[in-house]
This record gives sequence, structure tokens and C-alpha cells, in this order.
Amino acid sequence: MLGVKVPKKEAEKIRKHLLELNVLNNNFKIKHQDEFVIFPIKKRVEGFEIIEITFEKAMKRPHSYREVVKIPSEVYPLLPSSFDIIGDIAIIELPEELIPYGKNIGEAILTVHKHIKAVFAKGSKIVGEYRVRELIHLAGENRTESIHRENGIRLKLDVAKVYFSPRLATERMRIFKKTQDGEIVFDMFAGVGPYSILLAKKAKLVFACDLNPWAIKYLEENKKLNKVENVIPILGDVRKVAGQIKADRVIMNLPKFAHQFLKEAMNSVKSGGVIHYYGFSHEKNLFKEHEKKIKEIAKELGREVKTIDQRKIRPYAPYQFNIAIDFIVF
Ligand SMILES: C[S@@+](CC[C@H](N)C(=O)[O-])C[C@H]1O[C@@H](n2cnc3c(N)ncnc32)[C@H](O)[C@@H]1O
Repeated sequence: MLGVKVPKKEAEKIRKHLLELNVLNNNFKIKHQDEFVIFPIKKRVEGFEIIEITFEKAMKRPHSYREVVKIPSEVYPLLPSSFDIIGDIAIIELPEELIPYGKNIGEAILTVHKHIKAVFAKGSKIVGEYRVRELIHLAGENRTESIHRENGIRLKLDVAKVYFSPRLATERMRIFKKTQDGEIVFDMFAGVGPYSILLAKKAKLVFACDLNPWAIKYLEENKKLNKVENVIPILGDVRKVAGQIKADRVIMNLPKFAHQFLKEAMNSVKSGGVIHYYGFSHEKNLFKEHEKKIKEIAKELGREVKTIDQRKIRPYAPYQFNIAIDFIVF
């Protein structure tokens, strides 16, 4: 193989130069010989001492757990390309055929992603009023509590006890950007507070309701963790408090059932205020059914509505999308 031999004290300067010329061969290790350094190169280059020499192969750092996982080749194509990371916990969705290899898959994730300390597989769909799922421990620490960082805030939570999706971070930032200083916000299905804590940085007051006592416990902790005082956690069914609050902005992040709470949301918004509605839809009919329901409830309450934005947020099942509709209520 070809190498460029240079004196040790010039080595760093020449390494950068070889990189710029795109001749440095990164697949091999640089050699050290007495007072000289020898760089592996892809082709001859003018102005240097070139020698013929053998180099040791460089160890490449794997980028994906799929490069190191030990499973039979016939099930390899079933490996998911991605997984969720919540704080230092990874949650992966495995097809049934891969469950027997869960431990190996978990260990491969821990090997490649040093900041991950625990790996779990999804053990069920998201179910019940609290919107949580069962988890199967695969590797690392058998712990489900962690601190997740997103949009400049820290959220402590237990992935086995509360709902949380890191995939909504962009959507939350979008709502944050729309929020005006001094607003009153009503987060009807607050969870551990990813919207509430973030929006509290602009809003005057955020009412944050949730039925799940664990969600409210973590929301209280997250207020302290983020030094936020203008969030009012409310433990209980949102139906009991809706109507007593009059907000400039209402967030309805309960996509599966939000349509059942439109009356409560509209009764809690000031005239001219905005509702951020979330739902699930088939790709062939993304917004129509939801909009129909919104108009129906508005009519019942003698209110007017005007859609200001509608968008797909993310796919959640084959042909199904999590959608959002923002509308003003007069
Ligand atoms: C999809 S999660 C969203 C949580 C949070 N907004 C987030 O982005 O992580 C919906 C939340 O609504 C809560 N919930 C469900 N039904 C409720 C109700 N009737 N009243 C209040 N909270 C409810 C659940 O406990 C769950 O934490």
C-alpha cells in the first residue's frame, strides 16, 4: 500500500492537507515509526515522500445496532431501522418473529448507543384512558424512569406509567411559536407536561389537566425541574373543569378520543381563541370527518369556527395518520 512519510512535528498540518486533497485513506490506521508518521493514502500525491508499506485495518465504529446484532440471517430483514429514545431508555417495536432474539437486539443497541442504559420492547398497543402500553425488558438496567430533554426543557417521567412520545417534539415547538406572550393556555390532556412546561415560558398561566395521577406527579416535579411556576396541575377528568376556565389557547392532545371532548374545549375558549385539535385519520379522508364534527358541535353551542391550519403530523399505522387541525372559535 502507499503511504506518505512525514516528520512527527509536521504530521497534524499535513494530515489536514491530505484530508483537503481527499487522498487520506480512512479505512487504515496511521503508522508511527520513530520520529515519523506514515499516512495511508488512496493515490500518489505530489510534494511528499511516498513509500510502499502495509497498514493495519482501522476499526469502523458501527452507526446502527443492525451492524453488530447477532441473530439468524433469515430474520435479519425484519429488524426495525429505528426506535424511540426517551432520556436514556430505548423502546423498540419488534415483530413477533424477533421477540426470541430480544436480548441480543437490546444488547446490540446498548453497544452502539453508549448513552442508552435500558432497552425495552413494546409489549402492547397504547391502551386505556391513561394511554400507556406494556413494556418488555430486553437489556441493560430494568428501570423505566428517566429524564428526557426536548425543546430546551427537561421532562422526568416513567415510560411504563405515563404516556410520552418524543416524536411530537417538533409539533410542540410549532405550538410554542404560535403562542403569544401573556396568554392563558388550557392543556386539556397534559401528561407530564411537554406542552404545558414549554408554553409556560410565554404564557401568563397554563392550566394542565390529566386523569392519570402519575402524570400529575411528574408534572409537579417537572415544574420544579424547569423552575416554572405558572403551570396549574389539575388531577381529574377534564369534563369536571372544562367551562370553568376561559383560555386564549386550548390543546387537545388525545387523538383517539378528542372528538368526544369538543364541547368541553369550545366551552373553555374565549371568543377569538384558538383550539389545537388532534385526531387519527385514514389517509383517504384526513380532515373532512373531523371538520364536520367540529362544525356540528360549534353549531350546537351557537359558536362560529374558522380553520386556520390543518396538517399531517406523523403516520401511526398503515394508511393512518395523526393529524392536527387548528381553528379559531368566535
Ligand atoms: C396522548 S396523551 C398526551 C399527553 C401529553 N399531552 C403529551 O404530549 O405527552 C393523553 C393524556 O390524556 C389523559 N386523559 C385521558 N382522558 C382524560 C380525561 N377525560 N381527562 C383528563 N385527562 C385525560 C391521559 O391520562 C394521557 O396522559
